[in-house]
Amino acid sequence: MRIDIITVLPELLKSPFEASILKRAIDKGLVEIHFHNLRDYSSNRYKQVDDYQFGGGAGMVLMIEPIDKCISKLRSQRDYDEIIYLTPDGTTLNQSIANELSLKQNIIMLCGHYKGVDQRVRDVFVTKEVSIGDYVLSGGELAAAVLSDAIIRLLPGVLNDETSALTDTFQDDMLAPPVYTRPADYKGNKVPEVLTSGNFGKIEKWREQKAMERTSKLRPDLLK
Ligand code: ADE
Repeated sequence: MRIDIITVLPELLKSPFEASILKRAIDKGLVEIHFHNLRDYSSNRYKQVDDYQFGGGAGMVLMIEPIDKCISKLRSQRDYDEIIYLTPDGTTLNQSIANELSLKQNIIMLCGHYKGVDQRVRDVFVTKEVSIGDYVLSGGELAAAVLSDAIIRLLPGVLNDETSALTDTFQDDMLAPPVYTRPADYKGNKVPEVLTSGNFGKIEKWREQKAMERTSKLRPDLLK
């Protein structure tokens, strides 16, 4: 998979890809991440990429021309399956969107800033609009990092134990059951006995039951 991220703040985005699972995925060649600084596509000598909005009102808007130039250059090099605009008014990200996007080959992520992008960018280029939640960030960069992480950990070979993404919370529209590790007794707080019983049929049943209990208590909306 290849992800191209278009942003006015590439430096804000780099560090999440420089550690742990994402770094390992990149090092293993399972995903390529390319950052594109929108200012490099400005035709203005001040590298300006935003302007006042027509009709008046506070806040700057990212202009269509540099975005067009950047996207057109990328598209001349390869086909893209999706051009995703990160915006608080997009579809709220969930596990099924991450699953679906993890099957794509080439994705562009466009990070909004200030008041967002000129609407014509959304009309002409963007194929999917994604929000990471009902709150407003100062730009789409952190949202692009969140979306990338959610996608990349699903790529085959990224996680050590290939089955572990399958047992994630949300993967079956359920929260995951509780997990424990050593010691089995910590200051009188004991691990449920079934988990140390060695009876895997019983353990599986217990996990299903706990997942159901947790989901009905904490996220009953998932069961509907
Ligand atoms: N840009 C600003 N806020 C955002 C959000 N909640 N999700 C995605 N992109 C954003």
